[in-house]
Amino acid sequence: MRELRRRTLLSAIGGTAVAGGSLTAAGAGIARAAPQRPSPVDPNIKKLLDRMTVEEKLGQLQQLPWAVSTGPGGSETKDVEDAARAGRLGSVLNIFGAKSSNALQRIAVEESRLGIPLIFGLDVIHGLWTTFPIPLAQAASFDPEVTRRDAEVSAKESRTNGVHWTFSPMMDVTHEPRWGRVAEGCGEDPYLTTAFAVAKVEGYQGEDGSGLDSKDHIAACAKHFVAYGGAEGGRDYNTVDVSESRLRNHYLPPFKAALDAGVATVMASFNTISGVPAHGNSHTLTDILYKEWGFEGFVVSDWNGVDELIAHGFAEDGADAARLALNAGVDMEMASTDLAKHGKKLLNGGRISERRLDQAVARVLRLKYALGLFEHPYVDEDDAIDKPSAEARKAARETAARSMVLLKNDGKALPIEKSARSIAVVGPFGDSDDLLGTWTFPGAAKKFPSGKVLAAVKAAAPHAKVTYAKGVNAEGTDTGGIPAAVAAAKKADVTVVVVGEPPAMSGEAAARSDISLPGGQEKLIEAIAATGRPFVVVLVNGRPLTVGSWLKSAPAVLEAWHPGLEAGNAIADVLFGKVNPGGKLPVSFPRTVGQIPCHYNHESTGRPYSADNKYTSKYLDLPPDPQFAFGHGLSYTDFEIGEPKLSRESVSARALRKGDTLEVSVSVRNTGRRAGDEVVQLYVHDIAASIAQPVRKLRGFRRVTLEPGRSKTVRFRLGAEDFGFWTNAESGEFRVEEGAVDIYVGNSSEAGTKRRLTIT
Ligand code: NOJ
Repeated sequence: MRELRRRTLLSAIGGTAVAGGSLTAAGAGIARAAPQRPSPVDPNIKKLLDRMTVEEKLGQLQQLPWAVSTGPGGSETKDVEDAARAGRLGSVLNIFGAKSSNALQRIAVEESRLGIPLIFGLDVIHGLWTTFPIPLAQAASFDPEVTRRDAEVSAKESRTNGVHWTFSPMMDVTHEPRWGRVAEGCGEDPYLTTAFAVAKVEGYQGEDGSGLDSKDHIAACAKHFVAYGGAEGGRDYNTVDVSESRLRNHYLPPFKAALDAGVATVMASFNTISGVPAHGNSHTLTDILYKEWGFEGFVVSDWNGVDELIAHGFAEDGADAARLALNAGVDMEMASTDLAKHGKKLLNGGRISERRLDQAVARVLRLKYALGLFEHPYVDEDDAIDKPSAEARKAARETAARSMVLLKNDGKALPIEKSARSIAVVGPFGDSDDLLGTWTFPGAAKKFPSGKVLAAVKAAAPHAKVTYAKGVNAEGTDTGGIPAAVAAAKKADVTVVVVGEPPAMSGEAAARSDISLPGGQEKLIEAIAATGRPFVVVLVNGRPLTVGSWLKSAPAVLEAWHPGLEAGNAIADVLFGKVNPGGKLPVSFPRTVGQIPCHYNHESTGRPYSADNKYTSKYLDLPPDPQFAFGHGLSYTDFEIGEPKLSRESVSARALRKGDTLEVSVSVRNTGRRAGDEVVQLYVHDIAASIAQPVRKLRGFRRVTLEPGRSKTVRFRLGAEDFGFWTNAESGEFRVEEGAVDIYVGNSSEAGTKRRLTIT
């Protein structure tokens, strides 16, 4: 199917597929792709290129923002229209709506000399009208279908409103909970991120072979290329110093898999990669992306990313920045205008080549053909979806509940008993409609804000008396409302404390040095705990939090993340047990900020932690493990995971390299009294390798639903890409070495029984 779609994209413009390795989407890409052959230029594109002036060619490489700015600066709509009319514009971002996009498209198609249509791009990150849970939450579902549903709904809502291209999915693996953009990705693991990246690309672009020109699909963008998640200290846009092996094992796999899934475009990242800014990095953009992987689409810069090569201290001026970016492999410039301004002079001076310019233009035109824009440049204004459909709302509600993680549940405090006669909802997010999370389309946030927890609790418990007291604001030091919240809790059978981070505290340019609950929210929890009355805590946030001392006194904690449009209903579904939570953490929750980086897939050290030995790797004042580990998550029922079985105990490295596989099977049983979901997780650890390996690496997961008393056998198939790793060779070397590998199976990155496999 994947191959079919890839061909469909190409056949739309008469190209031929570049030879690639026989890779599975979830794989790291062991087989090296054949070096890129010069791309055969489609005759239509060739004809068009022959008619274009240099200015018009440079125009195709320019993307300008419309009315909304999602970065510093912006442009006047009048300038955008003039550029479109003059044929000096290839794409516009942040334009939305069938009417306005048609109006601008009409200028490009009917008033410019060659009539080349524009591509309209927008950050549709987790929904347009129908806001799904934030991507980090979606990853917590450990169910890629969740993200596929988001992408399918988003694609339809976007395309009918004139948007052809989303700057999503974000696939930056990160070990930095301080980084605000942890909310936009899938957390700390490359394998999990890969699975979600593929599902999202397929959801946006379609898997059914109908192609990008269908009304149901939009082009996706794999971003940010690459290693952006490694920003020092979690400060956005910051430096990344990364070895080739870390780059290839950790940051690149989701991108490679997205390419294999046919992703149309890639966006360069704001960071440096070992000293060379990503926008000027020919190693990543040309050597790896185009030559090694045979990428067929185009690379768009990030907002002002080309011009920022100057601030990076890499380019001397705008002309230099344009030259460096184009020559490194950036095809389209977003927001800044260095290429359009200086391109002609650079060309005349021989500092950029006509061949490279034509190549970049051909890549952009190829997507325009694939999207069907030459034949159907306009959208039907009567078709525009202008609100979430009932079906889309249902998907938003189900996926939000499916993404929640039950962190703690002492004494089965949750679900709330049906017999509860009085319920107090307290906390700044208890009656808030601001639970959509980061990156929501401004129009959607106003027209379709999130449902409130208070209203949903009232609807779910119609016979109970439900009261509300805010207690404290989400930020600030005022604790004056705490006594009223305490009074409400004292009168209630159970109190639901809804606390967290306002959406603006995560996402782009939203790093925090303190990742605990802001303002007086911890004080509020402590005051409720002091009443001695039953209570549960619901967290709504965009990153891992340090949960602090209040955790001890809270019987139950539900991590709801920023759940999106159906926030209230989805939270109530889980609180009252209509949905049994089955999500797992896609990120470790550190105990303190000082413990960061704190991730499960860290490398082995020469002095691994030992409680009895001072001279081991640890903090004197902290236990070695996180507060909550990657993969952790409870359920209202109990599961038992059996001993894993290997289909064989040894396998040769040679056979693995040739495609041999083995099976790991394990049984999982629901030993409790309710139906529920467990995520069976498989991790590997290569005991001795020529490059120190992570102590555990996720290489398989399966979310299963089981009725009480029922069991299921889960089977994982493992091959070379699960046991091998990339070395530090710049040219890309993937090795499967001989030796012992431990295979762990369990319900989190900490739990698990193991079996040893010998690779001979
Ligand atoms: C900057 C962000 O880094 C990127 O993710 C986004 O797509 C662009 N701005 C456009 O808004």
